[in-house]
Amino acid sequence: MYPDLVTPITFLQRPILAYTWILCMHFDCSQHPCLHRERSWLRKLFTGLCLLIVMCFLVIWSYMGNERKKSPPPSFLSQHCAERHDSSNSSSPAAVNSEVSVTYKSQSQSPINSFYSELGISSDSYSRLQQAVKWAEPDRSITNVSMSTSPAHTTFIIANLKDSYQIGEELLVLVHAKDFDNKSKSYGGDFFQAKLFWSKTKASVFGEVRDLLNGSYSVRFFLPWVGEAQVAVRLIHSSEAVQVLKRHRDTNSDRVYFNGYYEGPGPNKTRLSETMKCNVKWDKNGLERTGTGDCCCEYKDPRTGETWRCQRPKSLPCSALVYHSMGGYKNHLTNNDKMLMTQTNKGINGDKSIIKIFHHQNDTNDITEKCRPGLHTPVPAGFYLNDVWTSFVCSTRHFTTQTTTECLRDKHIYMMGDSTLRQWFEFFVKEVPTLKQMNLHVQYQSGPLLAVDVENNIDLHWRAHGVPLRCMKTAIANLHYISNEIDDLAGGPHTVIIFNLGPHFTTYPLEFFTQRVLRIRKAVLALLQRAPDTTVIIKTVNTGYKDIFGSDWYSLQLDRILRWAFQDVGVYILDVWQMTACHYNKEDIHPGPVIIKNEIDILLSFICKN
Ligand SMILES: *[C@@H]1O[C@H](CO)[C@@H](O)[C@H](O)[C@H]1NC(C)=O
Ligand SMILES: *[C@@H]1O[C@H](CO)[C@@H](O)[C@H](O)[C@H]1NC(C)=O
Ligand SMILES: *[C@@H]1O[C@H](CO)[C@@H](O)[C@H](O)[C@H]1NC(C)=O
Ligand SMILES: *[C@@H]1O[C@H](CO)[C@@H](O)[C@H](O)[C@H]1NC(C)=O
Ligand SMILES: *[C@@H]1O[C@H](CO)[C@@H](O)[C@H](O)[C@H]1NC(C)=O
Ligand SMILES: *[C@@H]1O[C@H](CO)[C@@H](O)[C@H](O)[C@H]1NC(C)=O
Repeated sequence: MYPDLVTPITFLQRPILAYTWILCMHFDCSQHPCLHRERSWLRKLFTGLCLLIVMCFLVIWSYMGNERKKSPPPSFLSQHCAERHDSSNSSSPAAVNSEVSVTYKSQSQSPINSFYSELGISSDSYSRLQQAVKWAEPDRSITNVSMSTSPAHTTFIIANLKDSYQIGEELLVLVHAKDFDNKSKSYGGDFFQAKLFWSKTKASVFGEVRDLLNGSYSVRFFLPWVGEAQVAVRLIHSSEAVQVLKRHRDTNSDRVYFNGYYEGPGPNKTRLSETMKCNVKWDKNGLERTGTGDCCCEYKDPRTGETWRCQRPKSLPCSALVYHSMGGYKNHLTNNDKMLMTQTNKGINGDKSIIKIFHHQNDTNDITEKCRPGLHTPVPAGFYLNDVWTSFVCSTRHFTTQTTTECLRDKHIYMMGDSTLRQWFEFFVKEVPTLKQMNLHVQYQSGPLLAVDVENNIDLHWRAHGVPLRCMKTAIANLHYISNEIDDLAGGPHTVIIFNLGPHFTTYPLEFFTQRVLRIRKAVLALLQRAPDTTVIIKTVNTGYKDIFGSDWYSLQLDRILRWAFQDVGVYILDVWQMTACHYNKEDIHPGPVIIKNEIDILLSFICKN
C-alpha cells in the first residue's frame, strides 16, 4: 500500500519544472497594457527614488545596528531571531507552556500583522511564540563538514553518580558535544533526545534536554520506578544539520508537491483528463515558484481564506478539478547538506552505569489530579513500566473492551487529522465488537470514515485534514479544513472532537502552519462558547521522521506552535511526543499497537473523567 505519510521517492523533476515554465510563458499576465504604458515612466522614476531612500535608510540603520545588539526582525517566524539567553533552551515540547517568558516584555513592540490581532493574539503573545520556536545556531559559518557535531566523539556523563537513588529523585546528565576533529563544540543548537530505560522491565522515561549554548547540554531525569535504569542519549541532528533543515524550510517549501486531477468532457463524447502540479498558495519560501500571473487555477476557501493552487490545465477549466494526491519530492540538498544529514539519529557514547532506584518511605508517586482541560504537560509526562504508561499529567485509567464501550456509549466522536489519528479510529473499530465500520466507498487513506454502534448509540468519524495532504488519489471535495468542520458542529455534552495536524506541514514555513492553527483555535473558541460542555482533545505530534521532508526537528517546532496556540483555550492536550520518543520500539511515525493502546487509555480518561 502507498503510505500516506510517505518515505521519499525521487520523481523525475526536471521535465516537470520545464513544463511549468512553458505553461507560465504561455499566458500574458498584463490584461490592460495600454492603460499602464503612459504612467510607466513616472512610476519607474518614483520606484527608483523610493528604492534609493530605502537603501540610504538601511545603510544608516545597519551602522547604528552595529553599536547595539541586533534586535529580532519583526514578524515572520521562520527567520531565526532574538538573542539567545532566555527561555526555551529545552528540546522538550512541553517546555513551552510554562516558559512563557516575562523577561521578553521589552521586545513586545515587534509589529504583528492584522491577521494575528484579528485572531486575538496580542503582540506579547506573538513574542512568546517567537521565543517558543527559537533555536540556537552556529556562531560561525560552516566551511567544512568536519566542524559539525560528531556523534562518535560526543559523550555524556552522569553528574554526581550515587550508589543508589530513591524513587522520585532527579538524575542529571551532561552531554559534551564534539566535532569530527574531536574538538569541543563551543556553540549550541544540536538536537538531542534522551531517555532513561531498563529493558527487562520494559521501562522508560523521557529526559528534558537543555541547551547550555556552549557545546554542553544538560539532561534532567526524574526517577519514576523502583529497580534499575540506564541512560541513553541520541543525536537526532547536529546543530549544522538543523540549519540545513531550516534553510530548506525557508527556501524550498515546494520540495513536497501534489497532483491535481482535472476531468471533464472532451470533443466527440470523449472524456478528458489532465494532471497538474498543485501546492499551497504562498508568495515566499520557494512556493512562489509554482508560477506567476495567470499560470494557475486558484481555489480560495471562502471561510478560511486559504488558497490552494494548481497549474492551469491546457484544455479543461479550473472548475474541472476533481481529485488530489501526493505528487512527489524534490530534493534540493547540496552534497554538504547530504553529508550533514547522514549523521542523523545516532546513539552517543557515555556512562553506562546502572542506576539503582529504591523505595522511598513516603512514596507519593500517585497522581491524584483529575483530568481536565488546560492541564500543562510536564517533563516527564509519564513513564513506561512493563509497557504500561503511567501519566503524570492527571489520573488516568486503563480500559478493557467493556469499559471502552461504556465510555464511548452515547458519544458522537469526530476525529480530524492525519493517518496517525486514523490509527485511533482503527483501534476502536478493532476493540469494540459492536462498533461496525461502514463502507462509504471513499479512498480509505483520506476518508471520511464512519463506524457506528447502533446498540450503544456511538458514531465515530474520521476524516483527513484539508490540503496539504500527502495521500493517494482522492476526491478533493472530501478534504475539508478542520476549522470549517468545527464551525459546522453544534457540539454538546455528547460530542467529542479530536484533531491533530503536523506531519503534512513539515515542509512549510512556520507562519503558514501558525495561521492554520490559529484558525482552528478560533473555531474551537467559538464552539466552546456555544457548547461549553463539548470535549475537545488535541493529539500532539509523534516522533519518527528523520529526513529533509519530515524531521522530528520540524515536528518539534510545529508542536510548540500548537501548544502555544491552545495553552489557554480549555482543550485537552494529549502528549504523544514523549510516549513515542522514549519507547523501546524503533521509532515510527505510525507507532505500534502497544503505544496506541497507551495513548487510547489517556484519551478515554479524558473522555470519561471518573
Ligand atoms: C536557558 O539557559 C540559560 C543559560 O544556561 C539559563 O540561564 C536559563 O534559565 C535557561 N532557560 C530555561 C527556560 O531553561
Ligand atoms: C575538512 O577538514 C578535514 C579535517 O579537518 C580536512 O582533512 C579536510 O582537508 C578539510 N576539507 C576542506 C575542503 O577544507
Ligand atoms: C577525543 O578526545 C578525548 C579527550 O579529549 C580522548 O579521550 C579521545 O580518545 C579522543 N577520541 C578520539 C577518537 O581520538
Ligand atoms: C557551559 O555552560 C555551563 C553553564 O553556563 C557551564 O556550567 C559549563 O561549564 C560550560 N561548559 C563549557 C565546556 O564551557
Ligand atoms: C470528431 O468527430 C468528427 C466527425 O466524426 C471528426 O471529423 C473529428 O476529427 C473528431 N475530432 C476529434 C478531436 O477526434
Ligand atoms: C516524609 O514526608 C514528610 C512530609 O513531606 C517529611 O517531613 C518527612 O521527612 C518524610 N520522610 C522521609 C523519611 O523522607
